[in-house]
Amino acid sequence: MELTVYSDADELADQAARAVAAVAAEAMTGRRISIGLAGGSTPALTYQRLAHDRSGWEGVEWWLSDERWVAPDHPDSNGRMVEEILGTSARLHRPRYSEFLTAADSAAHYEASLRHLHAAAPPDLVLLGMGSDGHTASLFPNTHALDVTGRHYVSNWVEALGVWRLTATFDLIAAARQVLVLVAGDSKAEPLARALEDPECDYPIRTVFERSANLRLLIDRAAAVSLSDR
Ligand code: 6PG
Repeated sequence: MELTVYSDADELADQAARAVAAVAAEAMTGRRISIGLAGGSTPALTYQRLAHDRSGWEGVEWWLSDERWVAPDHPDSNGRMVEEILGTSARLHRPRYSEFLTAADSAAHYEASLRHLHAAAPPDLVLLGMGSDGHTASLFPNTHALDVTGRHYVSNWVEALGVWRLTATFDLIAAARQVLVLVAGDSKAEPLARALEDPECDYPIRTVFERSANLRLLIDRAAAVSLSDR
């Protein structure tokens, strides 16, 4: 894992956008590039920077590392947020939503489309945030999806929020060539220190840290204050 501390959330967003753009630019070699994007305000700031230069994105397939189980135009939808910021330049694969579909059916359908997308090669990049409860994507503490194996995308009932979510599994995230985790703000300082330094910590983000072969953790100074001086 490579940890970089930036002065503030703006510098973090600038550098994270550069990292995503560098992967997207590989599409200009003719290779199909697959990038999974998370929801949340920290990732959203990065997408705003990323939107400044969308050249060469024709060969990039974008998808969502997680989604809320809401209508596509709902204010809480991650897909709506990404499309509003990145526009139609980003060919964004979104889960299907309908009142005649269950979250599980939608996750299974989306999983099939992602398995097709990744038939020849794993995801090139998965971008993630971290909640102050240690969740990442929609892998929340004490939820069913944490124990799922053999799947790449599942529905997940989050009791703490009283909502259904759709989420990439640990297996799909671990398969990615690169994982980028963005953490900013003082509310994340304690949970981040626990996730990085407490061997007993059972936060989902710690599982991603442990299972990802090529992970870059980009944080700001506010999120770094509780880290021991290593
Ligand atoms: C979601 C996200 C979630 C998010 C973190 C960080 O759908 O909410 O995918 O995992 O990335 O909660 O969000 P903030 O950066 O807003 O704290």
